[in-house]
Amino acid sequence: MQFAGSHILSIAQFERPDVEHLFAVADRMQPYAHRRRVTKVLDGAILGAMFFEPSTRTRVSFGSAFNLLGGEVRETTGFEMSAIAKGESLYDTARVLSGYSDVIAMRHPQEGSVAEFAAASRVPVLNGGDGSNEHPTQALLDLYTIRKELAGRGIDQLRIAMVGDLRFGRTVHSLCKLLCLFDGIQVVLVSPAELRMPPAIVEQLRAAGHKVLESEVLEASIRHVDIVYSTRIQEERFSSQQEADLYRGRFRLNQSIYTEHCEPNTVIMHPLPRDSRVSARELDDDLNDNPNLAIFRQTDNGMLVRMALFALVLDVADQVDRHARDVNWYTGGRFDGL
Ligand code: NCD
Repeated sequence: MQFAGSHILSIAQFERPDVEHLFAVADRMQPYAHRRRVTKVLDGAILGAMFFEPSTRTRVSFGSAFNLLGGEVRETTGFEMSAIAKGESLYDTARVLSGYSDVIAMRHPQEGSVAEFAAASRVPVLNGGDGSNEHPTQALLDLYTIRKELAGRGIDQLRIAMVGDLRFGRTVHSLCKLLCLFDGIQVVLVSPAELRMPPAIVEQLRAAGHKVLESEVLEASIRHVDIVYSTRIQEERFSSQQEADLYRGRFRLNQSIYTEHCEPNTVIMHPLPRDSRVSARELDDDLNDNPNLAIFRQTDNGMLVRMALFALVLDVADQVDRHARDVNWYTGGRFDGL
Protein backbone atom coordinates (compact mmCIF):
# COMPACT_ATOMS: atom_id res chain seq x y z
CA MET A 1 0.00 0.00 0.00
CA GLN A 2 0.99 3.59 -0.35
CA PHE A 3 1.00 5.16 3.12
CA ALA A 4 1.49 8.81 2.06
CA GLY A 5 -1.86 10.58 2.07
CA SER A 6 -3.85 7.41 2.85
CA HIS A 7 -6.60 6.91 5.41
CA ILE A 8 -5.91 4.08 7.88
CA LEU A 9 -9.37 2.59 8.36
CA SER A 10 -9.05 -1.18 8.33
CA ILE A 11 -6.53 -3.99 8.54
CA ALA A 12 -7.86 -5.06 5.13
CA GLN A 13 -5.66 -2.34 3.61
CA PHE A 14 -2.45 -4.02 4.75
CA GLU A 15 -0.22 -6.61 3.12
CA ARG A 16 2.56 -8.30 5.03
CA PRO A 17 5.36 -6.07 3.58
CA ASP A 18 3.38 -2.97 4.69
CA VAL A 19 3.33 -4.28 8.25
CA GLU A 20 7.05 -5.00 8.12
CA HIS A 21 7.76 -1.53 6.72
CA LEU A 22 5.63 0.07 9.45
CA PHE A 23 7.43 -1.90 12.17
CA ALA A 24 10.84 -0.90 10.80
CA VAL A 25 9.82 2.77 10.99
CA ALA A 26 8.39 2.20 14.50
CA ASP A 27 11.77 0.78 15.62
CA ARG A 28 13.41 4.02 14.43
CA MET A 29 11.04 6.09 16.61
CA GLN A 30 12.56 4.68 19.79
CA PRO A 31 15.01 7.52 20.62
CA TYR A 32 12.13 10.03 20.35
CA ALA A 33 9.47 8.04 22.19
CA HIS A 34 12.01 7.17 24.88
CA ARG A 35 12.95 10.82 25.36
CA ARG A 36 16.58 10.68 24.32
CA ARG A 37 16.08 12.86 21.23
CA VAL A 38 13.48 15.39 20.12
CA THR A 39 12.43 15.97 16.54
CA LYS A 40 10.52 18.85 14.99
CA VAL A 41 9.78 17.10 11.71
CA LEU A 42 6.05 17.91 11.99
CA ASP A 43 6.60 21.48 13.18
CA GLY A 44 3.48 23.45 12.19
CA ALA A 45 1.32 20.40 11.45
CA ILE A 46 -2.02 19.95 13.26
CA LEU A 47 -3.69 16.72 14.34
CA GLY A 48 -7.46 16.89 14.82
CA ALA A 49 -8.23 14.31 17.53
CA MET A 50 -11.96 13.60 17.49
CA PHE A 51 -13.09 11.11 20.09
CA PHE A 52 -16.83 10.61 20.31
CA GLU A 53 -16.53 7.65 22.70
CA PRO A 54 -14.65 7.24 25.99
CA SER A 55 -10.91 6.92 25.42
CA THR A 56 -7.84 7.47 27.53
CA ARG A 57 -4.82 5.75 26.04
CA THR A 58 -5.81 5.82 22.38
CA ARG A 59 -6.67 9.53 22.50
CA VAL A 60 -3.68 10.58 24.59
CA SER A 61 -1.23 8.35 22.75
CA PHE A 62 -2.33 9.58 19.31
CA GLY A 63 -1.91 13.13 20.60
CA SER A 64 1.40 12.50 22.33
CA ALA A 65 2.76 10.62 19.30
CA PHE A 66 1.98 13.66 17.17
CA ASN A 67 3.54 15.99 19.74
CA LEU A 68 6.68 13.85 19.82
CA LEU A 69 7.07 14.45 16.08
CA GLY A 70 6.81 18.20 16.70
CA GLY A 71 3.15 18.71 15.74
CA GLU A 72 0.20 20.33 17.55
CA VAL A 73 -3.08 18.69 18.63
CA ARG A 74 -6.65 20.06 18.60
CA GLU A 75 -9.22 17.91 20.36
CA THR A 76 -12.96 17.31 20.38
CA THR A 77 -14.32 14.80 22.86
CA GLY A 78 -17.90 13.62 23.28
CA PHE A 79 -20.95 14.40 21.13
CA GLU A 80 -22.28 16.88 23.65
CA MET A 81 -19.27 19.15 23.10
CA SER A 82 -19.48 19.13 19.31
CA ALA A 83 -21.89 20.39 16.66
CA ILE A 84 -22.93 16.78 16.01
CA ALA A 85 -25.19 17.36 19.05
CA LYS A 86 -26.93 20.08 16.95
CA GLY A 87 -27.64 17.62 14.15
CA GLU A 88 -24.57 18.18 11.99
CA SER A 89 -23.77 15.26 9.67
CA LEU A 90 -20.47 13.41 9.58
CA TYR A 91 -20.05 14.73 6.03
CA ASP A 92 -20.25 18.38 7.09
CA THR A 93 -18.11 17.83 10.17
CA ALA A 94 -15.46 16.14 8.01
CA ARG A 95 -15.48 18.90 5.38
CA VAL A 96 -15.04 21.54 8.08
CA LEU A 97 -12.50 19.86 10.32
CA SER A 98 -10.31 18.72 7.47
CA GLY A 99 -9.77 22.40 6.75
CA TYR A 100 -8.39 22.90 10.26
CA SER A 101 -6.02 19.92 10.45
CA ASP A 102 -3.39 18.06 8.44
CA VAL A 103 -4.48 14.64 9.70
CA ILE A 104 -7.37 13.41 11.85
CA ALA A 105 -7.62 10.59 14.40
CA MET A 106 -11.18 9.60 15.14
CA ARG A 107 -13.20 7.27 17.36
CA HIS A 108 -16.96 6.88 17.03
CA PRO A 109 -19.52 4.41 18.46
CA GLN A 110 -21.04 3.51 15.09
CA GLU A 111 -19.56 0.83 12.82
CA GLY A 112 -18.43 2.28 9.49
CA SER A 113 -18.68 5.88 10.75
CA VAL A 114 -14.96 6.60 10.52
CA ALA A 115 -14.91 5.42 6.89
CA GLU A 116 -17.95 7.60 6.14
CA PHE A 117 -16.20 10.56 7.73
CA ALA A 118 -12.98 9.80 5.83
CA ALA A 119 -14.82 9.78 2.50
CA ALA A 120 -15.65 13.46 3.04
CA SER A 121 -12.34 14.44 4.63
CA ARG A 122 -9.71 16.37 2.73
CA VAL A 123 -6.91 14.99 4.94
CA PRO A 124 -5.94 11.43 6.01
CA VAL A 125 -8.10 9.93 8.75
CA LEU A 126 -6.86 7.26 11.20
CA ASN A 127 -9.48 4.98 12.71
CA GLY A 128 -9.22 4.98 16.51
CA GLY A 129 -12.15 2.53 16.79
CA ASP A 130 -15.53 2.48 15.03
CA GLY A 131 -18.09 0.75 17.23
CA SER A 132 -17.41 -2.95 17.49
CA ASN A 133 -16.00 -3.10 13.97
CA GLU A 134 -12.26 -2.39 13.93
CA HIS A 135 -9.38 -0.80 15.82
CA PRO A 136 -6.54 -1.17 13.34
CA THR A 137 -3.86 0.84 15.14
CA GLN A 138 -4.39 -1.23 18.30
CA ALA A 139 -3.95 -4.46 16.32
CA LEU A 140 -0.77 -3.11 14.77
CA LEU A 141 0.68 -2.16 18.17
CA ASP A 142 -0.41 -5.54 19.56
CA LEU A 143 1.37 -7.39 16.78
CA TYR A 144 4.44 -5.16 17.17
CA THR A 145 4.42 -6.08 20.88
CA ILE A 146 4.03 -9.80 20.15
CA ARG A 147 6.98 -9.65 17.76
CA LYS A 148 9.13 -7.96 20.43
CA GLU A 149 8.01 -10.23 23.26
CA LEU A 150 8.85 -13.32 21.23
CA ALA A 151 12.29 -11.83 20.58
CA GLY A 152 13.14 -12.83 17.05
CA ARG A 153 11.01 -15.97 16.88
CA GLY A 154 8.71 -14.29 14.32
CA ILE A 155 4.92 -14.31 14.04
CA ASP A 156 4.53 -17.40 11.83
CA GLN A 157 3.48 -20.48 13.83
CA LEU A 158 2.30 -18.28 16.71
CA ARG A 159 -0.05 -19.91 19.26
CA ILE A 160 -2.49 -17.41 20.76
CA ALA A 161 -5.60 -17.58 22.97
CA MET A 162 -8.04 -14.67 22.76
CA VAL A 163 -10.30 -14.50 25.79
CA GLY A 164 -13.46 -12.59 26.72
CA ASP A 165 -15.90 -10.56 24.65
CA LEU A 166 -14.91 -11.63 21.16
CA ARG A 167 -18.22 -10.55 19.67
CA PHE A 168 -18.03 -6.84 20.42
CA GLY A 169 -14.27 -6.47 20.99
CA ARG A 170 -12.96 -4.53 18.01
CA THR A 171 -9.33 -5.04 19.01
CA VAL A 172 -9.58 -8.83 18.59
CA HIS A 173 -11.46 -8.41 15.29
CA SER A 174 -8.61 -6.36 13.88
CA LEU A 175 -5.95 -8.60 15.41
CA CYS A 176 -7.46 -11.74 13.81
CA LYS A 177 -7.52 -10.00 10.42
CA LEU A 178 -3.90 -9.00 10.87
CA LEU A 179 -2.85 -12.56 11.79
CA CYS A 180 -4.32 -13.68 8.45
CA LEU A 181 -1.25 -12.13 6.80
CA PHE A 182 1.01 -14.70 8.53
CA ASP A 183 1.41 -18.49 8.32
CA GLY A 184 0.48 -21.45 10.48
CA ILE A 185 -1.15 -19.62 13.39
CA GLN A 186 -3.07 -21.54 16.08
CA VAL A 187 -5.89 -19.48 17.57
CA VAL A 188 -7.99 -20.53 20.55
CA LEU A 189 -11.08 -18.35 20.89
CA VAL A 190 -12.38 -18.42 24.47
CA SER A 191 -15.71 -16.71 25.10
CA PRO A 192 -19.25 -17.32 26.35
CA ALA A 193 -21.28 -18.85 23.49
CA GLU A 194 -23.25 -15.60 23.09
CA LEU A 195 -20.07 -13.56 22.71
CA ARG A 196 -18.29 -15.67 20.12
CA MET A 197 -16.04 -14.22 17.44
CA PRO A 198 -18.15 -13.22 14.40
CA PRO A 199 -18.29 -16.24 12.05
CA ALA A 200 -16.97 -14.22 9.09
CA ILE A 201 -13.73 -13.57 10.98
CA VAL A 202 -13.39 -17.22 12.03
CA GLU A 203 -13.85 -18.13 8.35
CA GLN A 204 -11.18 -15.64 7.35
CA LEU A 205 -8.72 -17.22 9.81
CA ARG A 206 -9.48 -20.71 8.48
CA ALA A 207 -9.22 -19.52 4.87
CA ALA A 208 -5.73 -18.22 5.72
CA GLY A 209 -4.84 -21.80 6.71
CA HIS A 210 -4.86 -21.16 10.45
CA LYS A 211 -6.04 -23.66 13.04
CA VAL A 212 -8.99 -22.25 15.02
CA LEU A 213 -10.53 -23.75 18.15
CA GLU A 214 -13.49 -22.26 20.00
CA SER A 215 -13.95 -22.91 23.70
CA GLU A 216 -15.85 -21.80 26.79
CA VAL A 217 -13.20 -23.00 29.24
CA LEU A 218 -10.25 -20.79 30.12
CA GLU A 219 -7.91 -23.21 31.91
CA ALA A 220 -7.75 -25.85 29.17
CA SER A 221 -7.33 -23.19 26.48
CA ILE A 222 -4.23 -21.46 27.83
CA ARG A 223 -2.01 -24.51 28.34
CA HIS A 224 -0.04 -24.48 25.11
CA VAL A 225 -0.01 -20.91 23.86
CA ASP A 226 2.64 -18.21 23.46
CA ILE A 227 0.17 -15.39 24.12
CA VAL A 228 -2.96 -15.04 26.23
CA TYR A 229 -4.81 -11.95 24.96
CA SER A 230 -7.51 -11.05 27.46
CA THR A 231 -10.33 -8.56 26.81
CA ARG A 232 -12.97 -6.69 28.80
CA ILE A 233 -16.71 -7.30 28.45
CA GLN A 234 -17.70 -4.37 26.22
CA GLU A 235 -20.56 -3.30 28.47
CA GLU A 236 -21.30 -0.17 26.45
CA ARG A 237 -22.41 -2.39 23.53
CA PHE A 238 -25.05 -4.26 25.57
CA SER A 239 -28.65 -3.13 25.88
CA SER A 240 -28.43 -3.14 29.69
CA GLN A 241 -25.95 -3.45 32.51
CA GLN A 242 -27.80 -6.59 33.68
CA GLU A 243 -27.07 -8.25 30.37
CA ALA A 244 -23.36 -7.37 30.66
CA ASP A 245 -23.40 -8.69 34.25
CA LEU A 246 -24.19 -12.15 32.88
CA TYR A 247 -20.73 -12.34 31.33
CA ARG A 248 -18.55 -10.17 33.55
CA GLY A 249 -16.10 -12.17 35.65
CA ARG A 250 -16.61 -15.35 33.58
CA PHE A 251 -12.93 -15.69 32.65
CA ARG A 252 -10.47 -14.53 35.28
CA LEU A 253 -6.74 -14.98 34.89
CA ASN A 254 -4.72 -14.63 38.07
CA GLN A 255 -1.25 -15.72 39.15
CA SER A 256 -2.28 -19.10 40.54
CA ILE A 257 -4.21 -20.05 37.39
CA TYR A 258 -1.26 -18.82 35.32
CA THR A 259 1.23 -20.88 37.35
CA GLU A 260 -0.90 -24.00 37.20
CA HIS A 261 -1.92 -23.92 33.55
CA CYS A 262 0.42 -21.78 31.44
CA GLU A 263 3.83 -22.60 30.03
CA PRO A 264 6.45 -20.57 31.94
CA ASN A 265 7.03 -17.98 29.20
CA THR A 266 3.45 -17.35 28.13
CA VAL A 267 2.98 -13.63 27.54
CA ILE A 268 -0.14 -11.94 28.95
CA MET A 269 -1.67 -9.12 26.92
CA HIS A 270 -4.79 -6.93 27.07
CA PRO A 271 -5.67 -3.82 25.04
CA LEU A 272 -6.70 -2.09 28.30
CA PRO A 273 -8.59 -0.81 30.15
CA ARG A 274 -8.79 -4.00 32.20
CA ASP A 275 -11.90 -4.04 34.35
CA SER A 276 -10.50 -4.14 37.89
CA ARG A 277 -13.88 -4.11 39.65
CA VAL A 278 -14.43 -7.10 41.93
CA SER A 279 -17.21 -8.37 39.65
CA ALA A 280 -14.88 -8.55 36.64
CA ARG A 281 -11.09 -8.79 37.12
CA GLU A 282 -10.35 -10.54 33.84
CA LEU A 283 -6.66 -9.91 34.61
CA ASP A 284 -6.06 -9.86 38.34
CA ASP A 285 -3.79 -7.26 39.95
CA ASP A 286 -1.77 -10.11 41.45
CA LEU A 287 -0.24 -10.55 37.97
CA ASN A 288 1.36 -7.10 38.19
CA ASP A 289 4.75 -8.47 39.23
CA ASN A 290 4.69 -11.25 36.65
CA PRO A 291 7.47 -10.36 34.17
CA ASN A 292 5.38 -11.87 31.35
CA LEU A 293 2.58 -9.35 31.89
CA ALA A 294 3.13 -7.21 28.78
CA ILE A 295 0.18 -4.81 29.12
CA PHE A 296 2.26 -1.74 29.92
CA ARG A 297 4.84 -2.61 27.29
CA GLN A 298 1.89 -2.67 24.87
CA THR A 299 0.96 0.91 25.76
CA ASP A 300 4.57 2.07 25.47
CA ASN A 301 4.89 0.33 22.10
CA GLY A 302 1.68 2.04 20.99
CA MET A 303 3.55 5.33 20.91
CA LEU A 304 6.14 3.96 18.49
CA VAL A 305 3.54 2.50 16.14
CA ARG A 306 1.34 5.60 16.13
CA MET A 307 4.37 7.84 15.55
CA ALA A 308 5.36 5.60 12.64
CA LEU A 309 1.86 5.78 11.16
CA PHE A 310 1.84 9.58 11.31
CA ALA A 311 5.35 9.76 9.83
CA LEU A 312 4.36 7.47 6.95
CA VAL A 313 0.95 8.98 6.25
CA LEU A 314 2.43 12.49 6.23
CA ASP A 315 5.45 11.21 4.28
CA VAL A 316 8.21 12.38 6.62
CA ALA A 317 9.56 9.00 7.80
CA ASP A 318 12.91 9.64 6.14
CA GLN A 319 13.23 13.17 7.49
CA VAL A 320 12.66 12.53 11.21
CA ASP A 321 16.37 12.35 12.14
CA ARG A 322 17.26 15.43 10.11
CA HIS A 323 15.09 17.64 12.33
CA ALA A 324 16.35 16.26 15.63
CA ARG A 325 18.56 17.02 18.61
CA ASP A 326 19.27 15.47 22.03
CA VAL A 327 16.85 16.27 24.86
CA ASN A 328 18.14 18.66 27.49
CA TRP A 329 15.98 17.69 30.47
CA TYR A 330 16.12 14.84 33.00
CA THR A 331 14.31 11.84 31.53
CA GLY A 332 14.85 9.11 34.16
CA GLY A 333 15.00 5.44 33.40
CA ARG A 334 11.38 4.67 32.64
CA PHE A 335 12.11 3.14 29.26
CA ASP A 336 15.03 0.98 30.44
CA GLY A 337 14.76 -2.55 29.14
CA LEU A 338 12.29 -1.69 26.36
C1 NCD B 1 -10.06 -0.86 23.51
C2 NCD B 1 -11.14 -0.23 22.66
O1 NCD B 1 -11.46 0.95 22.85
O2 NCD B 1 -11.64 -0.93 21.80
N1 NCD B 1 -9.31 0.08 24.22
C3 NCD B 1 -8.22 0.65 23.62
O3 NCD B 1 -8.33 1.40 22.70
N2 NCD B 1 -7.01 0.27 24.06
C4 NCD B 1 -10.53 -2.00 24.34
C5 NCD B 1 -11.63 -1.76 25.33
O4 NCD B 1 -12.15 -0.65 25.49
O5 NCD B 1 -12.00 -2.74 25.99
